[in-house]
Amino acid sequence: MSLMSYPKAVLRRLRTRWTLWRAGPTVSAGRDLHLSARCRLWAPERLAFGNGVYVGKDVHIECNAEIGDHVLIANRVALVGRQDHDFRVCGVPMRFTPQISPTMAAMPASLDPETNVVRVGDDVWLGFGCIVLTGVKIGRGAIIAAGAVVAADVAPYDIVAGNPARPISRRFENAEVIAEHERRIRLGEFRLSERGDGHWIVRPGA
Ligand SMILES: CC(C)(COP(=O)(O)OP(=O)(O)OC[C@H]1O[C@@H](n2cnc3c(N)ncnc32)[C@H](O)[C@@H]1OP(=O)(O)O)[C@@H](O)C(=O)NCCC(=O)NCCS
Repeated sequence: MSLMSYPKAVLRRLRTRWTLWRAGPTVSAGRDLHLSARCRLWAPERLAFGNGVYVGKDVHIECNAEIGDHVLIANRVALVGRQDHDFRVCGVPMRFTPQISPTMAAMPASLDPETNVVRVGDDVWLGFGCIVLTGVKIGRGAIIAAGAVVAADVAPYDIVAGNPARPISRRFENAEVIAEHERRIRLGEFRLSERGDGHWIVRPGA
């Protein structure tokens, strides 16, 4: 293995820490988070990453979100607030409409603060360039195809594509395979290393 893997790992870790620091106190992370170049993270209340999450380049997360363990977020993915602006205020041009936030004194009647968050389960893949709107829950193990726009909940292990995203297939054949997949993950050991995939620990349970 190249000795250069050490300084590269240090630089990658520094970039992740710097990006987290810039994002402010509402953003938190489990262990082994990787943030690639030019990620923009911001949450009015809470953005939480689980363990071992990979976030690609040019990813924009600009809303409350809960991201599970071992989630793979491809380049140019965006998680955004469905109702960032109170566009139903009569007589106010769009540019001047108030920004909606859960801490607003008077929440617009149309907005349920409970749904003002994106929830992404463990073991999910968000494909290149997909957009996920708040209010959406993406079930464990699901896959969002490249370029999809996700405006409704996605069932665990569903594969969805298009705009609006609709199921196109299932990740695994049946419930038995899913149970076995989850059992092996539960009993296994999975650790990422910023030195590269040659240094990862990937040991599914027997
Ligand atoms: C979704 C994906 C995983 C393929 O899943 P799959 O279950 O093997 O799907 P298939 O390739 O069999 O395609 C099933 C149908 O969905 C369509 N489809 C596949 N990907 C699609 C997409 N991104 N957008 C719209 N439709 C798509 C196919 O054309 C096909 O349509 P048809 O039945 O009319 O022929 C893959 O297309 C994809 O988007 N991968 C993400 C790639 C990526 O983001 N890479 C970044 C690196 S991290």
